[in-house]
Formats: sequence, structure tokens, C-alpha cells
Amino acid sequence: MPSNAAGAGGMKIISVVNQKGGMGKTTVAMQLAAALSRRHRVLVVDVDPQQSTVWWAENAERHLPFDFAGSQHSSVLSRLSYLDREYDVVIVDTPGSLEDPHTLEVVVDASDFVIVPLTPEPLAVEPTMRTIQRFIEPRGVRFAVLLNRIDPRIQGQLEAWKELLDVTLGVPRFDACLRQYKAQADAPVLGSLVTTVRDNRSTQGAIWDVTRLGLEVTEQLNPQLQGAW
Ligand SMILES: Nc1ncnc2c1ncn2[C@@H]1O[C@H](COP(=O)(O)OP(=O)(O)OP(=O)(O)O)[C@@H](O)[C@H]1O
Ligand SMILES: [Mg+2]
Repeated sequence: MPSNAAGAGGMKIISVVNQKGGMGKTTVAMQLAAALSRRHRVLVVDVDPQQSTVWWAENAERHLPFDFAGSQHSSVLSRLSYLDREYDVVIVDTPGSLEDPHTLEVVVDASDFVIVPLTPEPLAVEPTMRTIQRFIEPRGVRFAVLLNRIDPRIQGQLEAWKELLDVTLGVPRFDACLRQYKAQADAPVLGSLVTTVRDNRSTQGAIWDVTRLGLEVTEQLNPQLQGAW
């Protein structure tokens, strides 16, 4: 039975933010929601006009393990407190465009924690740092970068990117990362999630990555819950 995961602190809002497009915001929002839904009552809110989560949710038909609110204006976030008794965690997917800074400001202001996915491409670093410096750090909200689409076949890639984040850029990051998997790339069109996909050799890496991320997020939000999985 889902517990009141967030505990004494009540419902927690986690947003997934990066103004650079295609870094994995929608993937992280949906898959993390699935992982956390194993223990917690989760709502996904999509404030991206592109509405990728809606498409994913439609492809999942009735198999979504969490509640879902597509087509939401960012102003909905300031009204979410009335859902405090309904949900433990709200995960917000955001747009990847530079055109609408107001949406990001509202979302980050409402968040307890911000996840910044980053794929290992040199051209992604600058816009990602700009997002952090302009929208996240000035608001004092806790955040961490999540390395995504790490290629397990490229030796030293993960280590090099961890070092870049830790030493050169000095930004907090998750220990967990998401590796590049076909199961992740196929998930939106199949409407699959790490909790609903068949566990086999081609899916287990993706399932493990997201499960580990879920654990780390839970620890970040409520250290007392450490080991509660
Ligand atoms: N770990 C992964 N392995 C394989 N494919 C991935 C992975 N993460 C994301 N993708 C794929 O990369 C593409 C971009 O990911 P996604 O849509 O999650 O990014 P986004 O940040 O939400 O993009 P946008 O800024 O357009 O909203 C998608 O086709 C997605 O399926
Ligand atoms: Mg998206």
C-alpha cells in the first residue's frame, strides 16, 4: 500500500528542468514517476506545450501506475497545496525552450527539488549551466544534475563527465546516471515504463538505472526514508 512517503514534510514537488532541448526531461519525469509509484502516491504534471507526456500516457492506455495531469498551465503549481493529502510526490515535466522563462520561474519557485538532466555532449554544457545559474541557483532550491544517455561502450565517458561536473563546473549531481538504452528510446512510443516493461536482458539495465535514481531522490527528499525500499 502506498505510504505517506514524504512524511512530516508533506507533499514534495520535484521538477525536471533544462532549457536545452532533448536532454531527457520527459524520460526522467515519466520513468522516475513510475519508480516512485512503487512506494508513493505520485502525480505527474506537464507544463510543456509540446505535451510529450500526454502522448506517452495515451500509449500506456490504462497502465499508468501514477496519476497524470497533462496540458497544465504553470500557474497550477501554486494551487497544488490542496492536493497535499492526495499525493506524496508531484513530478513536473517542463519545456525545453528558451522562449518562456516565466514558466520555468514559476515551476522552480514551487519546487522542493530540481533535477537537471544532461546528456554527454559538449554543446549541452553551456545552456545547462545557464539554466542552473539563471533559474535555479538564485532561487536557493536544491538541485542536482543527472547524467543521461551515458554510453556503456565508451570507456571512461561516465568518469570524465562526473569529473567535469564535480571539479570543473562544481555543480551537485546524482551518483545514479541513466545509460543509453533502446528500452528508454522505445518507451514513449510503446507507452512502457520501468515498472510495466517485461524484465529481461534488454530492459534490466534501464530498470536498474531508474530504480537507483528513485532511491537517491527519496533519500534527498527525506533522509529518514533511507533504506525504506
Ligand atoms: N537514457 C536514454 N536512452 C535512450 N534514449 C533516451 C534516453 N533518454 C532519452 N532518450 C530519448 O532521447 C530523446 C529526448 O528525450 P526526452 O524527450 O526525454 O528529452 P526532453 O528533454 O524531454 O526533450 P524536450 O526538450 O524536447 O522536451 C527521446 O527520443 C527519448 O526517447
Ligand atoms: Mg520533453
